[in-house]
Amino acid sequence: MAEQKKILRALAGEKQSVPPIWMMRQAGRYLPEYRATRAQAGDFLSLCYNSELAAEVTLQPIRRYGFDAAILFADILLIPQALGADLWFVTGEGPRLSTITSEADFAKLGPASDIHETLNPIYETVKILSRELPAETTLIGFAGAPWTVATYMIAGRGTPDQGPAHALKQENRPLFEALLARITEATIDYLSKQIEAGAEVVKIFDSWAGSLKGEDFRKYALEPCRQITAALKERHPGIPVIGFPREAGDAYLGFAKETGIDCLALDNSVDPLWAAQNLQVDGCVQGNLASRHMVTGGEELVKETRAIVQAFQNGPHIFNLGHGITPDANPDNVKLMIDTVREA
Ligand code: CP3
Repeated sequence: MAEQKKILRALAGEKQSVPPIWMMRQAGRYLPEYRATRAQAGDFLSLCYNSELAAEVTLQPIRRYGFDAAILFADILLIPQALGADLWFVTGEGPRLSTITSEADFAKLGPASDIHETLNPIYETVKILSRELPAETTLIGFAGAPWTVATYMIAGRGTPDQGPAHALKQENRPLFEALLARITEATIDYLSKQIEAGAEVVKIFDSWAGSLKGEDFRKYALEPCRQITAALKERHPGIPVIGFPREAGDAYLGFAKETGIDCLALDNSVDPLWAAQNLQVDGCVQGNLASRHMVTGGEELVKETRAIVQAFQNGPHIFNLGHGITPDANPDNVKLMIDTVREA
């Protein structure tokens, strides 16, 4: 029975004495078995589009650790690629894309309805996973939030301050808004297909939400998340949505209520005791052990893990990191975190 899955129970608002746990970037370079499968695939993007191998790396951390959720192995930058942008990854540096700075660049993108031919292998990965995952494990699909995806499409790479995206917003707001609208539409269709293929929960990653302030935050972080959530709820009633407006600070307040998401994912900067009082009152929260503990381990890891479990023990909570695990993490520290969460 689906309701027995710990993640779905937390998302439905149930408080549990031992919270369910999964980890952002749980399939990744810190695991030797991931590195081996990636080498077999050739490179990162080939791995994303190879459904059998993408399902295999998704399952690796489930076999090794028994996490309560598996997250589809893919990337937020597949949407730009499916819309027609060039995408490649430079080893040791990160993603590169063709840039969008003019109407002419934007005109080269395809319509949102054309993304599925490129993205079909991702839906196939979801289908394989929904067959192969253990009965107690929840399958999470995901996409990037429109603002975060746009920051990469505009700059053509990751940027420390999202400067090029802010510049386009200032210099050509209609073009900036047209780009966000295109990504929003594609994201709704993409997540909808993931759900039809078997995703039981979806998560919207707004990694750069923190660089939007005031009215801009409302228009370009909160509003797209609300639109995506509303459209998905209409098409797929009962499928929970997790939102992650990373580094949003005070704007975390009321975000879940206003967007209609079922769970608010907290970044490393959010104080758990404050969040329990001010955010968890609106529903489930997810987070938020600092990823660096997966590198350093020891007593500090145990102490911080316990403090987070304790802070959120009176309401619905999914234990996770505050951001993705890094390649230099020690796999033994992941086990220590899980054992500490489950010891209660
Ligand atoms: O969490 C998971 O295990 C699921 C898979 C997943 C990946 N990326 C795999 C990945 C998810 C959910 C993402 C999301 C993602 N991708 C975000 C949002 C979350 C965040 O981290 O803020 C962003 C901004 C991206 C874009 C992206 N992908 C960047 C900037 C990079 C390069 C940085 C890096 O870590 O190398 C990637 C590559 C990437 N995506 C890797 C993985 C496992 C590493 C690629 C490799 O194997 O070399």
